[in-house]
Amino acid sequence: MNLEGKVIVITGASAGLGAHFSKILVDKGSKVYGLARRGAILTEMSKELGPSFVGLECDVASENEVNVAFQSILDTERRIDVLINNAGLGIFGPAQDVTVEDWDLQMNVNLKGVFLCTRAVLPTMKAQNEVNGFGGHIVNISSVAGLLGNPNISTYNVTKFGLKGYSEALFKEVREDGIKVSCFYPGSIQTDFFKSAGLPMSDNPMTSEQLGSTLLHVLETPDNYLITEIVMRPLRPKG
Ligand SMILES: NC(=O)c1ccc[n+]([C@@H]2O[C@H](COP(=O)([O-])OP(=O)(O)OC[C@H]3O[C@@H](n4cnc5c(N)ncnc54)[C@H](OP(=O)(O)O)[C@@H]3O)[C@@H](O)[C@H]2O)c1
Repeated sequence: MNLEGKVIVITGASAGLGAHFSKILVDKGSKVYGLARRGAILTEMSKELGPSFVGLECDVASENEVNVAFQSILDTERRIDVLINNAGLGIFGPAQDVTVEDWDLQMNVNLKGVFLCTRAVLPTMKAQNEVNGFGGHIVNISSVAGLLGNPNISTYNVTKFGLKGYSEALFKEVREDGIKVSCFYPGSIQTDFFKSAGLPMSDNPMTSEQLGSTLLHVLETPDNYLITEIVMRPLRPKG
């Protein structure tokens, strides 16, 4: 896909990977809609990135907020070419200490949020395929925790394994509608993720820039060339 002029929605755009993806896609000439709960940060990003970045305050776990956000994008643009389901969080600790609130929050953001945002774009992408012979591209950000279970991250594991299953099912379901589905499985990346999780950052993480260059490669592939899954890791995580 040539990204110039394309309409791209990124969830979790206010920090980390989502903020960096927003910047590089604006640099590519795309119109980027960034969703997150912290509206003040999105406003600052709009000032920095200019009119090609529009921030929308939205909790992806809320059906109503997601529907309102996507309707407003469609009212303005009449199309959505790319959805990047990036919003997510981890709350780590022993399985016996997981609270129902922590379980629900991770399920609601990491899985229900992906479902709600994906459901919101599918009719539009299918209609685009009817007109252009190409529907669009959905990129889901899972984790190596979607491939490997590990102590003290059981709930996060469930959500990211779930996203693997959702991505695989969706890829098979919508490929004939001209819609690409790609799922990323990164190891540690230098973002606020570990701070939010209450853990120290690993010693030698990857960077958002490194993930960004892979994202551009995946999005810019020819229409009939689909990369369904990518695992990314730091070569020497301990430095
Ligand atoms: N960093 C890593 O090592 C790593 C490794 C593998 C996978 N990942 C995955 O990469 C994705 C991005 O994480 P990151 O590292 O960039 O973390 P981050 O710096 O903590 O950013 C998380 C983003 O998600 C947003 N978010 C959280 N809850 C939300 C909600 N209910 N509605 C909308 N947005 C919400 C946050 O925005 P607001 O707070 O403003 O809502 C923020 O923009 C996540 O899915 C994470 O699981 C990260």
